[in-house]
Amino acid sequence: MVPSLPRYLATVSLLSFLALVSSAASWDTLQPGSSLAIEAYQSDILQSTDGNFSCGFYRIYDNAFTFSVWYSEAANKTIVWSANRDRPVHSRRSVLTLLKDGNMVLTDYDDTIVWQADGDNHLKNVQHAQLLDTGNLVIKNTSGSIVWQSFDSPTDTILPTQRITAATELVPTTQSRAPGNYIFRFSDLSVLSLIYDVPDVSDIYWPNPDNSVYDNNRSRYNSTRLGSLGNNGILASSDFADGILLKASDAAVPGIKRRLTLDPDGNLRMYSMSDPDRVWSVSMVAISQPCTIHGLCGENGICHYSPTPTCSCPPGYVMTNPGNWTEGCMATFELSCHDQEPVQFVKLPHTDFWGSDQKRVLGISFEACRDSCIIDCSCKGFQYQQGTGSCYPKALLFNGKSCATANVRTIYLKLPARLNVSDTPIPQTNVLDPAPPRLYCDQMSRGVRHPFPDVQETDDGESKWIYFFSFIVAIAVVEVSFIAFAWFFVFRKELRPSEMWAAEEGYKVMTSHFRRYSYKELAKATREFRVELGRGRSGAVYKGVLEDERPVAVKKLKNVSRGKEEFQAELGIIGRINHMNLARIWGFCSEGSHRLLVCEYVENRSLASILFNDQKTIVLDWKQRFNIALGVAKGLAYLHHECLEWVIHCDVKPENILLDTDFEPKITDFGLAKLLNRAGSSQNMTQVRGTVGYIAPEWVSGLPITAKVDVYSYGVLVLELLSGARFSELAVGSDAEVYSMLRKLVTVLADKVEGQEESWVGEFVDQELSGQFNYFQARTVLKLAVSCLQEDRNKRPTMESVVQTLLSSDEASN
Ligand SMILES: *[C@@H]1O[C@H](CO)[C@@H](O)[C@H](O)[C@H]1NC(C)=O
Ligand SMILES: *[C@@H]1O[C@H](CO)[C@@H](O)[C@H](O)[C@H]1NC(C)=O
Ligand SMILES: *[C@@H]1O[C@H](CO)[C@@H](O)[C@H](O)[C@H]1NC(C)=O
Ligand SMILES: *[C@@H]1O[C@H](CO)[C@@H](O)[C@H](O)[C@H]1NC(C)=O
Ligand SMILES: *[C@@H]1O[C@H](CO)[C@@H](O)[C@H](O)[C@H]1NC(C)=O
Ligand SMILES: *[C@@H]1O[C@H](CO)[C@@H](O)[C@H](O)[C@H]1NC(C)=O
Ligand SMILES: *[C@@H]1O[C@H](CO)[C@@H](O)[C@H](O)[C@H]1NC(C)=O
Repeated sequence: MVPSLPRYLATVSLLSFLALVSSAASWDTLQPGSSLAIEAYQSDILQSTDGNFSCGFYRIYDNAFTFSVWYSEAANKTIVWSANRDRPVHSRRSVLTLLKDGNMVLTDYDDTIVWQADGDNHLKNVQHAQLLDTGNLVIKNTSGSIVWQSFDSPTDTILPTQRITAATELVPTTQSRAPGNYIFRFSDLSVLSLIYDVPDVSDIYWPNPDNSVYDNNRSRYNSTRLGSLGNNGILASSDFADGILLKASDAAVPGIKRRLTLDPDGNLRMYSMSDPDRVWSVSMVAISQPCTIHGLCGENGICHYSPTPTCSCPPGYVMTNPGNWTEGCMATFELSCHDQEPVQFVKLPHTDFWGSDQKRVLGISFEACRDSCIIDCSCKGFQYQQGTGSCYPKALLFNGKSCATANVRTIYLKLPARLNVSDTPIPQTNVLDPAPPRLYCDQMSRGVRHPFPDVQETDDGESKWIYFFSFIVAIAVVEVSFIAFAWFFVFRKELRPSEMWAAEEGYKVMTSHFRRYSYKELAKATREFRVELGRGRSGAVYKGVLEDERPVAVKKLKNVSRGKEEFQAELGIIGRINHMNLARIWGFCSEGSHRLLVCEYVENRSLASILFNDQKTIVLDWKQRFNIALGVAKGLAYLHHECLEWVIHCDVKPENILLDTDFEPKITDFGLAKLLNRAGSSQNMTQVRGTVGYIAPEWVSGLPITAKVDVYSYGVLVLELLSGARFSELAVGSDAEVYSMLRKLVTVLADKVEGQEESWVGEFVDQELSGQFNYFQARTVLKLAVSCLQEDRNKRPTMESVVQTLLSSDEASN
């Protein structure tokens, strides 16, 4: 049988589609118009023809991926290049596409462009993208010329045959994936250098800054700026003086795979991997004495060998962030300048803080040098050399190094005279013993029990429940149904269209504004914590205005048992969360015992204060209520399923739902369960396990806590949103009473939603609405709430399916 023409065409295009898919899966080229999908990250991989390199999506943690090139051979994938190192994409819907017009584009799941090969330019006449045997990902035009290559934009690694040019810059990949503080590039003198680069200082530490260029065997006048790593393990550069090259210890041994990487510790290393063992070993290192790497111990820190490289703080200083030397040490004192406070100088022999000299004076006496530091407020100390009489007052103390060798330097530290330094303990730790990365999901400890009374029926609870339900039944059934029915026809067009979902913005993962604030700054922003917005178990919230005039809510957390470092690591995760239904966290402060969060200020205050306000100054209409139910569901779905680290809220309740001027809900306090103390004694558990009336039964039964606890609390919240009544207030007292009352209500509702009768819906819905609601939607929402309140958490829907159900009910009623 001859197929009809359209069917024939459809078959052909299907075949060519299949061909494209299979070529994407196993070949080294990507054709224009085709793409690599994140869902198939294990199979949608480009491979160089010799199989040594692969290119595709690489999982960095749970839900986050980079688009990268790696050595396929190594026992563990060794990333050599990434398109989006600092801005990972989601595990869903992210895609890399070679567009028909030529550019290669990486999009996140909301279609935001995260990276494009050629910026905003348009590559012309593109033939395909290809992963070469060298590990170079290239785009070729129809005449076979390379029009873009990954070798031109390296991340932290140079491969054999890759050129080091004037534009090349390597920056290390740190564990937290924040950009590192070190750079490998040609300096302004065209000398291949390692540079320590932080806001306050930027200086070269390799080649040795104390030597002249010639003593370092570099040539200063060759401005060619060109270098390369050979397959033979030899690093050549235009600034290397005649015949001097950097060689791997196994240089010239054939068949070895190599890479040159700037590691997070600021050292440049060449690595070799030979075939049999498939493990990388260091075959060349730029700096053999780690203490000569600048910034290793942070500001004010001192590096010394005892016998391994170790950091310590000078007298009068303590570690800024225990566990992370990058942040160095901070002074325990404040030297006020105007009062002419008497100072003392503490002598640290064999110690130097390199750079940050205010000036350099030769041939003066020790006393003159000291006096010049005393009168200068910004002087932190000075270095003085007997004999030459050279004096270097320091504006900042960076790159501290202590070494009991011949080249003696002595630093004199300026401290207030009142400070007794003989008894200050000096913290020190091995610097090359980094803390493990702290990027894991919230894992609630299993089997934690709380003294929650056994669920039992009490007469008291019973009577209150009967009161509650008969109260609703007492409303005139017929009238309500009639109004509801009429409303359904008259007002349904005004309902929020489901297209909103598609048009919705605000799904950006990374934040540009997230930062750390000092306590002083926040005290100033809140005018010494004058205006209190509210107070909860996690602490009080104050209104403030930042310097850039952004209004913020500043939350003073109490009961934070987490160490400073852990606190910051957790915040690093929740600070990235950004969704229109989640109150944004702009920053934090962690100083001494202070732990503060700086959050988005939301205008209309909480859902609880509007819903349960006796004055009823604001009555939410049906559209607004439905939209709140939907928005909260979207926010929770995002926390549970979409963001980089899954987050369980653990305390969903109307107090934690803020409403903006358009009554768009924003969930607040997410991530707090991770910050507050939740381990340890059962007393502490009450702080974290949620709020009476909203807590799921698994908190009692000791089952592991999953996202389904939030689904349960959402169920309660939605019932309250519809009825306008606070359940936990209907049964005064114990958790058990509230719980048993709620179970009865759910049982009755479960019965009703399955039945044919309709009038009960009108009885349940808040009377403040005077029957102005969408019957169909209300029924759907109630049915949903009942399923969220299932005792067996496996029977509860996920927040994602809740969103879907609400959206389709919205659509159906339009
Ligand atoms: C690729 O790997 C094979 C086997 O490990 C090796 O023989 C070959 O030389 C490698 N090719 C390159 C270009 O390194
Ligand atoms: C590969 O990674 C695993 C887990 O991260 C580690 O235990 C193992 O030592 C690594 N293997 C090599 C050869 O580096
Ligand atoms: C391909 O690129 C090369 C180098 O940029 C250029 O000379 C050539 O004209 C291009 N070919 C086409 C067909 O655009
Ligand atoms: C240490 O602190 C620096 C600067 O704040 C940060 O970039 C880095 O990620 C931290 N390292 C660890 C292991 O937390
Ligand atoms: C410079 O090269 C000479 C001769 O190879 C060598 O002795 C000297 O140690 C080198 N200097 C440096 C700083 O590497
Ligand atoms: C500069 O370096 C390049 C590349 O190594 C070399 O070809 C050239 O001769 C050098 N120029 C001078 C003036 O040394
Ligand atoms: C400083 O502290 C040490 C040890 O606690 C003590 O012996 C000494 O007397 C103190 N000096 C002054 C001036 O207070």
